[in-house]
Amino acid sequence: MQIKSAVFTVSSPSYTKCPNDGRPEYAFIGRSNVGKSSLINMLTGVKGLAKTSGRPGKTQLINHFLINGEWYLVDLPGYGYAKTSKSSREKWDKMMRDYFLHREPLANVYVLVDSRVEPQRLDLEFISFLGMNGIPLTIVFTKTDKEKQREVMANIKAFKKALSEQWDELPPMLLTSSQTGYGREALLDQIEEINKSI
Ligand code: GTP
Ligand code: MG
Repeated sequence: MQIKSAVFTVSSPSYTKCPNDGRPEYAFIGRSNVGKSSLINMLTGVKGLAKTSGRPGKTQLINHFLINGEWYLVDLPGYGYAKTSKSSREKWDKMMRDYFLHREPLANVYVLVDSRVEPQRLDLEFISFLGMNGIPLTIVFTKTDKEKQREVMANIKAFKKALSEQWDELPPMLLTSSQTGYGREALLDQIEEINKSI
């Protein structure tokens, strides 16, 4: 799929304040610093469209970007930053639970997982939450340029094993690098397919 335009639309503190034009949207979630905002910039080809940072906790609100005037990419604040206060964590929990459970135009969730590390409990728990609520998702292994391919493959294998303890059929999975652009076509093709089916 070709990206002809990518335009920041709005930052919202809750799902009720998000755009209500009914256009389908694709949300990016995962641990703080896993590369959600970077992936959105890589997919759109617009550097600096979504704000990125070397420090975790950069994205704090629900950010909508209108693509080709037809659908949205949604950049979300990450989970699991150790230094987050209890009150901010509770705020995140409520904002994200409400968003995922009630946001009607949500067509698919991309759960980003760092390809350099072994399976993390928080990621597995979050994926279970989506699964148990029947919310469609794709797992995206990020930062594949930063680690040896052998390590990446071993981590993915371990992740699949951990998931299969709870899932009969595993969700779709993709590998990406925002640094090299790897995985861009595959991810955009998937969005195109889903858009066609709506
Ligand atoms: P929060 O908004 O804080 O939750 O983080 P985020 O998930 O949006 O991460 P962000 O895109 O801000 O990236 C965090 C850091 O990882 C930045 O320093 C990025 O340059 C770096 N990064 C992200 N993706 C990649 C990648 O594919 N390869 C490499 N080498 N670095 C990456
Ligand atoms: Mg971010």
